[in-house]
Amino acid sequence: MSSSDELIRRRERVVCQGVGRMSDLTVASAHGATVTDLVGRAFIDFAGGIGVMNVGHCDEQVVRAIREQAGELLHASIHVATYEPYVALCEKLVELLPHGPSTKALLVNTGAEAVENAIKIARQATGRAGVICFTGAFHGRTLLATSLTSKVSYKIGCGPFAPEVYRLPYPLVRQHRGGSEHDVSQRELTRLRAALHDTVAPGNVAAIIIELVQGEGGFNVAPPEYVRGLREICDEHGIMLIFDEVQTGFGRTGRWAAYEHYGVTPDLSTWAKSLGGGLPISAVLGKAEVMDRVTPGTLGGTYGGNPVACAGALATIRQMESLGLNARGEHSGTRIRERFEAIASRVPEVTDVRGLGAMMAIEFSRNGDPATPDAALTKSIVATCRDNGLIVIPAGVDGNVIRVLAPLVISDADLERGLDILDNAISAHTKQPARAGSEG
Ligand SMILES: Cc1ncc(COP(=O)(O)O)c(C=O)c1O
Repeated sequence: MSSSDELIRRRERVVCQGVGRMSDLTVASAHGATVTDLVGRAFIDFAGGIGVMNVGHCDEQVVRAIREQAGELLHASIHVATYEPYVALCEKLVELLPHGPSTKALLVNTGAEAVENAIKIARQATGRAGVICFTGAFHGRTLLATSLTSKVSYKIGCGPFAPEVYRLPYPLVRQHRGGSEHDVSQRELTRLRAALHDTVAPGNVAAIIIELVQGEGGFNVAPPEYVRGLREICDEHGIMLIFDEVQTGFGRTGRWAAYEHYGVTPDLSTWAKSLGGGLPISAVLGKAEVMDRVTPGTLGGTYGGNPVACAGALATIRQMESLGLNARGEHSGTRIRERFEAIASRVPEVTDVRGLGAMMAIEFSRNGDPATPDAALTKSIVATCRDNGLIVIPAGVDGNVIRVLAPLVISDADLERGLDILDNAISAHTKQPARAGSEG
């Protein structure tokens, strides 16, 4: 039995199965966009540990900053004593991502915690309880975040869920179905206005929380017209607009924030994943006038904004600036889209190509009918990719989407090689001819 197999056996013996396992992949080390398993096999990484490694695995500057900070101060708790890395990271975040004239920040540990805290802030700021969220949403696995999450497989047996959560259809725009961006935007804005009349009174709604590009939901991109409409409705009724940028943030869409593509500023926003360069840290940003309405002591936690995680995040942001990773995101996104569209033109089972910047996805359906999502085909393609040296992960409420979350430092050669492997795996499972000159 290989050391990889043995590790999986040890995991199965002691790790709770509630911690889902996508495959039997193991990992011993990772650098840049390459992951190496326990038996020394190298993989091109199109998953980035679920969108965390935009700056690349074990970036030298990030690792150096972490080591230096670890030798000075490992923990203090911001509630007990103020330390510089916490304040410096908040300063950097409000400079990069202003929410109007004056912005404040809060640091916690995970995406779900950021979401929980954003809702608590919105509730305190408005004195209201209701939260509107969307089908296809994923906001994390704590109880309130799970309540806001849509896909039932994340929720089985976990209720009762948090009350005062109202769900509306996400403004889904799909190639060849469901209407234009304008039609979808107007239909869903009308539905929202109706819901504020017949489902929950606007005076009871604290917040609307939305992912501008849904992550786990399958990289659905909200149309700008809809998002501008959301802003107007929130302004009309004093509702806090929260953008969950946990998966979209820090270069993934070719900008620091997905909202920069929309010209719409949220009242509050949530950040995690690639902010930390691999360490667990998350943030809530908000308009100062909103953040200042919160009672001291109601937010935070023992570990939130740990000094080592702050130092890692600051070094990550510095590296992203000096390597020009937003531009790299745009660049790889363009290339991935070209390759996916070429595949779509050849393979009938591909029923959509979508995304923003380097947050790109390709969707599979049986016999090319989008009404019959093909999770089994998607799973087989993912497995064949892994057998040929590429890590990719699925997404989508129906599990029929393959998403790309490769580190943005990936070289053009590795990106092409990874796309070749994916292209050939799709060909193998859909009986399409392989691309000339490709490998895998
Ligand atoms: C948009 C979004 N929000 C929240 C979360 C939850 O983050 P975490 O797993 O760090 O709690 C995720 C995780 O995938 C996410 O994609």
